[in-house]
Amino acid sequence: MGETIKWTANKMQIKRGQGAATRLFNQAEIDKARNFHRTFPQYQPTPLRSLKYLAKALGVAGIYVKDESYRFGLNAFKALGGSYAMARYLAGHLNRDISEMPYEVLTSEAVKRQLGDITFATTTDGNHGRGVAWTARQLHQKAVVYMPKGSAKQRLANILAEGAEATITDLNYDDAVRMTATKARENGWVVVQDTAWEGYEEIPAWIMQGYGTMSAEALTQLQEIGVARPSHVVVQAGVGALAGSVEGFFTSLFQEQRPKMVIVEADQANCLFKSAQAGDGKPRTVGGDMATIMAGLACGEPNLIGWRILRDYSEMFVSCPDWVAAKGMRILGSPLSNDPRIISGESGAVTTGLLWTLLQDKGLREAKESLGLNRESHILLFNTEGDTDPATYRSIVWDGEYASAAK
Ligand SMILES: Cc1ncc(COP(=O)(O)O)c(C=O)c1O
Repeated sequence: MGETIKWTANKMQIKRGQGAATRLFNQAEIDKARNFHRTFPQYQPTPLRSLKYLAKALGVAGIYVKDESYRFGLNAFKALGGSYAMARYLAGHLNRDISEMPYEVLTSEAVKRQLGDITFATTTDGNHGRGVAWTARQLHQKAVVYMPKGSAKQRLANILAEGAEATITDLNYDDAVRMTATKARENGWVVVQDTAWEGYEEIPAWIMQGYGTMSAEALTQLQEIGVARPSHVVVQAGVGALAGSVEGFFTSLFQEQRPKMVIVEADQANCLFKSAQAGDGKPRTVGGDMATIMAGLACGEPNLIGWRILRDYSEMFVSCPDWVAAKGMRILGSPLSNDPRIISGESGAVTTGLLWTLLQDKGLREAKESLGLNRESHILLFNTEGDTDPATYRSIVWDGEYASAAK
């Protein structure tokens, strides 16, 4: 698809009044998820990094990166979703409220005896499956994980190290999701998938609520440094569960004063961008291999819960070639002056690469103006993963693979 960044302003955005319901992500729901995560012995809010020198260089008031490479020692945000969904599922099984199921209870021998053996199954490019495997191990339960064709060996190794049964298939992500669902039906496994489709919405909704811990922490951290709310949030999307959760949270809280939301995809897997371009409210899909270095974003079929929110409340959709992610990795890895260094993987860094290009490249001036990015802007980004594929990280950051097409 070439070298250029493509963008489309969202013509379906609802500026006033009611769009898709965001009550799944209201403060009370997100507090439940956050209170649950707080019971984990590994829990600590991940850092919110303020890149002051980068903001100054780019002529905006602030750039803040929520660094999820610190989450639970797992190098990505994803376990927030899997762990919460698995806990909600088990709480339901035991007829208890999630507030009665802190980590200590959930992982106890007594609960294991009550539940018996359960197998959780999922499809993943790496991060989500690692989170599911990590949670299953702590619950003394089993996880079966399928990965799409071309998945990184190191990401497979990380999942196997959590004691899961894991294999790389020869299917793309969306076909692997379908295969997992079929196998789960045949074997009586519980599917913990981070995307929703017609008839499968409860577990994905819990996963998205689990991601809410990250947005809630970020807002608290911003408010602690005197930023009442960000003016813009730029968030990456594969199926759009993460983006839907972030947007649901900020919309539920701020309604018409919500930050302007920019949704960023890999150009080889830009199903949300295509859906926005079509402009009739219906989701579109992308098929084939979706060959992108942004493995976490290589998903061609939108999450339906996410799509409804993104359709109604996003400001802009952007489709990015691989060099944008590579540029972001280098910007974050070798920061200006005293800005903190952030180790960011391909899917984590694309929003930084995009922000730099949006604010610098004359070819994107119209997009910048349409977003109202200026000296007053406080922009929130999420580094959703660290160097989860260390070999690729080095070939990009050290050896300069995927050179920038915009300088
Ligand atoms: C690191 C990383 N960032 C972003 C995403 C995108 O999340 P979603 O598929 O919910 O859009 C993923 C998904 O796997 C991921 O692994």
